[in-house]
Amino acid sequence: MNLSGVTDGPLQAGDRVTLTDPKGRRKSLVLREGAVWHTTRGAVSHDDMIGRPDAIVVTSVGGMEYLVLRPLLSEFMVSMPREAAVVYPKDAAQILMWADIFPGARVLEAGVGSGALSLALLRAIGPEGSLHSYERREKFADVARKNVETWVGGPHPAWRLTVGDLVESITDEPLDRVILDMLAPWECIDAVGERLVAGGVVCCYVATSTQLGRVADTLRAHGGFTEPHLTETTVRDWHAEGLAIRPGHGTSGHTGFLVISRRLAPGVQAPMRKRRPAPGAYGPDYTGPRPANIPGAAAQAESVQEEQPQDEGTAADD
Ligand SMILES: C[S@@+](CC[C@H](N)C(=O)[O-])C[C@H]1O[C@@H](n2cnc3c(N)ncnc32)[C@H](O)[C@@H]1O
Repeated sequence: MNLSGVTDGPLQAGDRVTLTDPKGRRKSLVLREGAVWHTTRGAVSHDDMIGRPDAIVVTSVGGMEYLVLRPLLSEFMVSMPREAAVVYPKDAAQILMWADIFPGARVLEAGVGSGALSLALLRAIGPEGSLHSYERREKFADVARKNVETWVGGPHPAWRLTVGDLVESITDEPLDRVILDMLAPWECIDAVGERLVAGGVVCCYVATSTQLGRVADTLRAHGGFTEPHLTETTVRDWHAEGLAIRPGHGTSGHTGFLVISRRLAPGVQAPMRKRRPAPGAYGPDYTGPRPANIPGAAAQAESVQEEQPQDEGTAADD
């Protein structure tokens, strides 16, 4: 069984193809013998595609030309049925590299949502790896399972999908890599920290800056993780035709942040940072988790009062 989801050779009945018109409008179809796709510019017969190579042009009865291509994984991830927001390909690409997903890795993922990131992880770990995905909403898990099976062409042997809350249902298997895409990943840090191997990577994908701060401080307060690395990725399209070379219109907006950190060996505590946090970072208004070297709120209030005349900075880490 080919687990990559990539098919070569002539187009066959059952293949998914994307038809793109000259204006860039797309239509996704599953080829069926004898079927016809009706457009405002006349019909396109599936039989005109079946048996022909990938990457061809077909013409509707009304004369409209369509480019026919089997979709790439990145295209399938954004066009497949979804119940929850998906991780977009630009972020999935970053996750694969910065979370260091490798062939044969033992990976935990939660939540699964629609399974977009599961598809990217499954491809990266290959048949020798294992992906154990947790999703607490059964309906979402069903959608994700269907999406993965549609892409792969059946159940993926390296994939286990558990319906349940991660903290309540996590198993005791050792983990090389952990990816959390959920509202409150900080609630899962203790549980995944117990199973991550020394040197293993945890990667949290969060949508808001409030979540970003909370998960970063939870990792620091845990003490058994390295200082988290925090990033956001923007991809800018470019247009280049003759002398007209300029940024395109497809620049990505905000999707989410990545928080990456590594598990320290059992019993090892992260060395405290030499740099002091900005004044007020953990002041009286801060109610989240506190790294071990940060005094309690009362002591912080005093030190903020002392320091304020010199420096009024508010950024948590600038
Ligand atoms: C944004 S979606 C994940 C999208 C997914 N990464 C994708 O690419 O399609 C977040 C999911 O996490 C699930 N979730 C939230 N907290 C969870 C927990 N503690 N355990 C398991 N699933 C959880 C939610 O039900 C939701 O489906």
